[in-house]
Amino acid sequence: MLRVVVLVSGGGTNLQAIIDAVAAGSVTNTELVGVISNNKTVKSLERARSAGIPAVSVSPKDYADRDLFNEALLAKVDELQPDLVVLAGFLVAIPPAMVERYSGRIINIHPSLIPSFCGVGYYGLKVHERALERGVKVTGATVHFVTEGMDEGPIIAQKPVLVEEGDTPEVLQRRVMEQAEWILLPQAIDDIANGRIRIENGKVVQAQ
Ligand code: GAR
Repeated sequence: MLRVVVLVSGGGTNLQAIIDAVAAGSVTNTELVGVISNNKTVKSLERARSAGIPAVSVSPKDYADRDLFNEALLAKVDELQPDLVVLAGFLVAIPPAMVERYSGRIINIHPSLIPSFCGVGYYGLKVHERALERGVKVTGATVHFVTEGMDEGPIIAQKPVLVEEGDTPEVLQRRVMEQAEWILLPQAIDDIANGRIRIENGKVVQAQ
């Protein structure tokens, strides 16, 4: 069983998609061993607890500086002994020490077709605001392994989603979630849990 820890910041709809997929058996060989949020009062923690998954918050507000927060976050992840760390709407920069220790074992979902609309400052609704400002006709979502550079790690999977006339950032965000994110992220976990995807020399290798 792949021990999976999910890191979240907000509403947790991607977390819910993972919980539901494990419960439905479309993600197999996977045990959700913990959920960590950087935020104390988020819906994600409730979602985890209702599914019987241990859930805790590690908030930067409780630490004197960033280094101490980073250490506490890494210690909490270590405690759960994950095989895979999933960033499901975790809107905090990952401590470099975590990237190093869990190299090839952290994945992230991003709400655009990387390399468009990604990197520093592109997170959550902002991504969709920028996509609409630019007037793109197609956007989507990307699941990728996490490396030190923000949104720069090897791509596991992408799914395009059409922009429609009159879209607001909120409407587009919801469509990208429904048509791409909630499908791609559980699928990537299942692929990793069942040995269909791994990372080798910085490249994603897919078993035939
Ligand atoms: C999702 O759209 C996710 O792709 C995005 O935040 C949202 C979280 O929603 N992540 C990023 O922008 C990471 N750069 P959720 O809490 O409902 O899953």
